Amino acid sequence: MPAIVVIGAQWGDEGKGKATDILGSQVQWVVRYQGGNNAGHTVVLPDGQDYALHLIPSGILTPGTKNVIGNGVVVDPGVLLDELSALEARGVDTSGLLISADAHLIMPYHVAMDKVTERFLGKAKIGTTGRGIGPAYQDKVARVGVRVADILDEKILHQKVEAALAYKNQVLVKVYNRRALDVDEVVDTVLAYGRKFAHRIADTRLLLNKALEAGESILLEGSQGTLLDVDHGTYPFVTSSNPTAGGAAVGSGIGPTKITRVIGILKAYTTRVGSGPFPTELLDAMGEHLRKTGGEVGVTTGRPRRCGWFDAVIGRYAVRVNGITDFFLTKLDVLSGLETVPVCVGYEVDGRRIDDMPMTQTDVHHAVPVYEELPGWFEDISACRTFDDLPANARAYVHRIEELTGAPVSAIGVGPGRDETITRDV
Ligand code: IMP
Repeated sequence: MPAIVVIGAQWGDEGKGKATDILGSQVQWVVRYQGGNNAGHTVVLPDGQDYALHLIPSGILTPGTKNVIGNGVVVDPGVLLDELSALEARGVDTSGLLISADAHLIMPYHVAMDKVTERFLGKAKIGTTGRGIGPAYQDKVARVGVRVADILDEKILHQKVEAALAYKNQVLVKVYNRRALDVDEVVDTVLAYGRKFAHRIADTRLLLNKALEAGESILLEGSQGTLLDVDHGTYPFVTSSNPTAGGAAVGSGIGPTKITRVIGILKAYTTRVGSGPFPTELLDAMGEHLRKTGGEVGVTTGRPRRCGWFDAVIGRYAVRVNGITDFFLTKLDVLSGLETVPVCVGYEVDGRRIDDMPMTQTDVHHAVPVYEELPGWFEDISACRTFDDLPANARAYVHRIEELTGAPVSAIGVGPGRDETITRDV
């Protein structure tokens, strides 16, 4: 398996951390290719210790694995150092972490802009994580961004910050009534951080391609999820990067022809944080039940996640836009104990039946789920380790998801631990 991609098939928080952690032990390299510290991956190790990772690839927890923050990521240098220190304090070896020279830096003014623009949007806000992700990507595309390699050249860093602040300070002060940022102060802060990780900066696309040539395997770890993709998601309620599988090639510098497998991480029900449409959302006691049973609270912001039933329209869409080869179905155990489990098989939009993701934002907002009721199961499935160990109704649920989405389920999560997983040959 030369290069495999792991992506979220829904709105993020599908349990990618666990999947990448398991797969990470089978590859030499784990690469983050987009997003930044808006992500939150929880990994529970066999000794019961859990780790919440935001920026650093989950592969860091597997000794000997080389980890890369790819060019498509936006890096907050302070967060990077804090996360490294926290891991090191717990005895994790972080020496294998490299950072692409071309990744963009999240600067203090990006975080400031993220917060003020959200406040300014009022009811129309996106519900961002407030970490400066959108403003950092805006600067990247506007060609006024600061890249990781810029910390190696103080003169160029100063020029870039000066140019950026000449405009941003006007906006911060005149539009949002905030304090202007001082160029020297920003440069000094970033340089002080940079000195501590300068030895990790590398031409990662060169190293990754050499690794592939040498027959090594690479896991490309996506953050967020398909429906948060800036192109394929529920725009404008999306993040500012491309979590979908195509983004893995762009955000790492690995050619798409090298990617042989795309694993979609699919939660057995659906969750979302932040604003935006969510057809199968449950605003009643059942939604609360899923939130409580599934521990559905954001790893990064601590916000309660919105919860709803499984949506096969989204699953099919994810298969299509990512070229998913197989699914890792997570949190099946959360559905134990229900008389019936509804699954959304299509939508009604203004009286029309639709089986695929609607074309317009308006139609997505008007989509009313059409449900099929599947019989539930009452057994505790957390000790199941083979597909045949599962109760018949749980197996039927998995089979129905495969039929409705068009991709096989190769692994099933039945609990948070690394070992609480069923794998299947598909
Ligand atoms: P941003 O990425 O902070 O700009 O936030 C944009 C949208 O993406 C908001 O709705 C966030 O709640 C959502 N989002 C960002 N990162 C994650 C994640 O890791 N999991 C789930 N939702 C996320």
